Amino acid sequence: MSETQIKRKKLGISNQIMSHEVKPKLIIHGGAGSSLKGKGGLIPVRNSLHAIVKEVYELLSNNGSAIEAVILGCQLLENEPRFNAGTGSVLQSDGQIRMSAALMDGEAQRFSGVINVSRIKNPINLAKALQSESDRVLSDLGSAEFSRELKLPIYDPLTDLRLQEWIQERKDDFNKKMAGVVAEEELITTEEARRGTIGVVVLDSQGKLAVGTSTGGKGLERIGRVSDSAMPAGNYATTKAAVSCTGIGEDIIDECLAARIVIRVTDGMSLSEAMEKSMAESFSRKRDFGAISIDADGTIAWGKTCEVLLAAYHNGEEINDTLEWTSNDLMGYSS
Ligand code: GLY
Repeated sequence: MSETQIKRKKLGISNQIMSHEVKPKLIIHGGAGSSLKGKGGLIPVRNSLHAIVKEVYELLSNNGSAIEAVILGCQLLENEPRFNAGTGSVLQSDGQIRMSAALMDGEAQRFSGVINVSRIKNPINLAKALQSESDRVLSDLGSAEFSRELKLPIYDPLTDLRLQEWIQERKDDFNKKMAGVVAEEELITTEEARRGTIGVVVLDSQGKLAVGTSTGGKGLERIGRVSDSAMPAGNYATTKAAVSCTGIGEDIIDECLAARIVIRVTDGMSLSEAMEKSMAESFSRKRDFGAISIDADGTIAWGKTCEVLLAAYHNGEEINDTLEWTSNDLMGYSS
């Protein structure tokens, strides 16, 4: 009996449907942009991402569904102050935090999301609750009202580091276009523009795909700016493939990147070809972003037009990541 079968037996879950099962696959990201500041930046990011991959994969190994795994992964990434989503979100130009998140069930091909929500811990929980509503994408006032209806506790996602970053920007007269993608002490005084978002893509043991994406936005943006993360441009899935994007939202929207890759696969292209073609087109248009994806056959693929993609994955055998992938290649994959 396999390790998974033994775990299922212990949990009282039937092993009779094992013949229909596939090996679960998982990839997550914590942003994309320019390179991390040496090992001081890389090691903690790697540790965070790998620990989250491990915990979510454990759920998948115990027959957790793709949707359950995506929600758990997004919650864990939102709760990690290092990443720009949930706790640790960047501040907008007026010093406020407004977060956006989306969830897409590939099997049902159903999208739900919230745009510019404030004062909650896990925006992905609102996206989850909206999956079964007739109105499935809510913006600021509507999402606040919905959050009250669900009796979600009021929560302040602000961290000291993000506040210091914003105060420094104010001193510099907001001459930087974006806040840092990950919260690092050294970043407060750097001029480097970085971009942050979190995302989770899953193929579960029943062969079902799901994807979730969550962000605090670009940081320092105009009030009312809408992120790609709660649009099909940044988060999309069908029964054939699922994609989550990170990077400059406007670039992702202009390429309609997540939907573009998924539709190419749905129409018959392989995932690695679809990722490569979409990234090559985007690179020629000087776009600045990254994407992670999985197809129904279990291929995991990632791509970037920027310097670094903070992604980690479990291919059914081992955990690996893309943190030190700085070559000029536009995509990579693991089957
Ligand atoms: N990709 C996150 C944003 O631009 O808001």
